[in-house]
Amino acid sequence: MIKSKLLITACLAIASCGFVATKGPEESLKKVFKDDFYVGAALNGRQVSGKDPKAIAIVEHQFNSISPENLLKWESVHPALDKYNFAPADAYVAFGQKNDMFVVGHNLVWHNQTPDWVFEDTQGNAVSKDVLQKRMADHISTVAGRYKGKIGGWDVVNEALNDDGTLRESKWYKIVGEEYLADAFRLAHEADPKAELYYNDYNLWKPAKRDGAIRLVRNLQEKGVQVDGIGMQGHWGLESPSIEQIEESIIAFSKLGKVMITEFEIDVLPNPSNRSGADIDATFAADEKYNIYKNGLPDDVQQQLAQRYADIFALFHKHRDKISRVTFWGVTDADSWLNDWPMKGRTSHPLLFDRNYQPKPALKAIINSVSKN
Ligand code: G3I
Repeated sequence: MIKSKLLITACLAIASCGFVATKGPEESLKKVFKDDFYVGAALNGRQVSGKDPKAIAIVEHQFNSISPENLLKWESVHPALDKYNFAPADAYVAFGQKNDMFVVGHNLVWHNQTPDWVFEDTQGNAVSKDVLQKRMADHISTVAGRYKGKIGGWDVVNEALNDDGTLRESKWYKIVGEEYLADAFRLAHEADPKAELYYNDYNLWKPAKRDGAIRLVRNLQEKGVQVDGIGMQGHWGLESPSIEQIEESIIAFSKLGKVMITEFEIDVLPNPSNRSGADIDATFAADEKYNIYKNGLPDDVQQQLAQRYADIFALFHKHRDKISRVTFWGVTDADSWLNDWPMKGRTSHPLLFDRNYQPKPALKAIINSVSKN
């Protein structure tokens, strides 16, 4: 521990540990973890449309898996009843194929970023169960069917649980009932029988939610519904969750199938509540007293971030027989959704590359963490 802290301090002193993000013989995450698990990043529309070539160079060098941050969500790909918009998603999938990456689909059924029309008739009244089931079937067979054989794994259902482990009363749940979960996984399997199918959620380190996810997935599997694994969204902070809490969930979920760490980043900014996770509706008015690193991360926080990433990756490496993928939620700090959540307009620093596309000490710290195991 003392040794790795000294190393990180030394790295800080020489700014970027001799790493060059986009060229040169530097180590990359995909090489370091090649025998262990995929290492991925979420891509946005600017990146897949070629408007951010520096980020793309980082992705090609560092990662062997990609996830679509927003491009495959219902509102992006299926904005109106008879209208699909596949161009950005096609570009995303083509990029992954060109680079021989494991391409993730995110997501098929969620309560967020799903347009109101899905749940309503033309008068704005709630549709019947039959109508909603038909809409889900059309959506999944069209979207998952289009990328059959190209997308390796789908987040089929996203965030169906409350933090206490009970089922979220989403419109899917209220109109269709609990069976919407089995419907979604069955339809995805029919659309692409070889794709892996996942349940994905945040705060899965919390014991009650962990138990809820286990119940949800086990119930489906006992009915013969294919669920290949659980995505633990890693929207975590500098102090919480603890390594032990994360580890307990990794071990528990591995008994049901693959474990993936998805949507990973470490938030370094203070928050006005004890918030954790990623409930996009839990927001606050902008307040500069929570925007304390506008001019960059102080060295001591940079070091804390590097150490936190190193500690967590040491855990992932320890459980490499259980974990199939670790995916960061963005490429550089400029891309992070945390610049706008839980309040708008902050300068956030949660990822491995800074706003100048330079690697942060956390990258080197992660790579060094492997030798500890
Ligand atoms: O659609 C509008 C677009 O028309 C407009 O030009 C643009 C300008 O601000 O805003 C666009 O909508 C934004 C959308 O991202 C697309 O960029 C929304 O305001 C913004 O709220 C939305 O945020 C996304 C969020 O999901 C929505 O729930 C984040 O980028 C995305 O990182 C985040 O990702 C989710 C995962 O999918 C699931 N788990 C939680 C995670 C973090 O919330």
